[in-house]
Amino acid sequence: MYRRTGFRHMGNLSIKLLGKDIKNPVMNASGTLGYGKEITRLWNIETLGVYVTKGLSIKPHHGNPPPRVWEEKQGMINSIGLQNVGIECFFSEYFPFFKKKKTPVIVNFFGFTEEEYVACARMIEPHPLIIALEMNLSCPNIKKGGISFGKEAGGVYDIVRKVKAVTEIPVIAKLTPEVKDIVEIARAAYEGGADGFTLINTMPVLALDREKRLPVFRGGFSGPALKPIALKAVYSVYKEVPVPIIGAGGIIDYKDAIDFFTAGATAIQVGTATFIDPYSIPKIIQGIKDHMKEYRISTIEDITGCAHE
Ligand SMILES: Cc1cc2nc3c(=O)[nH]c(=O)nc-3n(C[C@H](O)[C@H](O)[C@H](O)COP(=O)(O)O)c2cc1C
Repeated sequence: MYRRTGFRHMGNLSIKLLGKDIKNPVMNASGTLGYGKEITRLWNIETLGVYVTKGLSIKPHHGNPPPRVWEEKQGMINSIGLQNVGIECFFSEYFPFFKKKKTPVIVNFFGFTEEEYVACARMIEPHPLIIALEMNLSCPNIKKGGISFGKEAGGVYDIVRKVKAVTEIPVIAKLTPEVKDIVEIARAAYEGGADGFTLINTMPVLALDREKRLPVFRGGFSGPALKPIALKAVYSVYKEVPVPIIGAGGIIDYKDAIDFFTAGATAIQVGTATFIDPYSIPKIIQGIKDHMKEYRISTIEDITGCAHE
């Protein structure tokens, strides 16, 4: 059950995340809001609680040739191939915009080897607006035949520990759902030093060409059909690790967001919904606020994890 409060104190959206005060619990999911500036023709970037960068690497990366997206009934498949401008360019060209707007940032990053992850973490200087580094553990490990880093507990422990050793910035592990037991992987990341989690990344899938009877597109699936999978991941990991969880996967409206809070998320990320309706994020923020007022909820913290009680 929700804890209820007096009318005067309802609907405070601010949260505490990794020691920082954040004005609301809604972020974009990495890779779904460009480099931030693109959306500002429609709404102000300051609307976000935190802006999450596109996955960044030590050097710029071209990504995959087109087609890069594929529409499905309950979501989409993407095969962007981690295209990005690189860490250096992000900090020289784009970060000043977030500084000007005083908008907190989570820096999503990846590598194709352990050494690349460590080099990325080293390159990112602490700054009061950088809330955390978000490690994309879905990336293929080229030294292990392209199997993603996040699929094996021992490897997750090692890579998180190595990244933690070179940075003072809190580290969030973003996990892939393509594992037997996500709780086991989360525990390994926590033991390696992870300060928080983003649950979950896209699910590897394929689409077939019906006439040729062959695969026509492979990539990561996102959108509404991912929600129950992500919700279970948040629910299951919440009881096992004493660090904040950011829920991501299929959040389309404020009702989905509320479900993630009650399952145990401190904050949420919105990805594919923005492709369906570019105003999804401001609508979700307003919807959460209205819901809190209607149910006389004082803070997000009051409902975080309440589905476990
Ligand atoms: C076009 C696109 C690009 C993405 N790029 C990244 C990325 O660079 N790094 C990452 O960790 N996740 C990336 N993701 C995954 C999202 O951040 C998110 O975890 C996933 O899409 C599930 O959320 P959703 O169902 O709300 O989209 C991408 C997703 C999409 C659709």
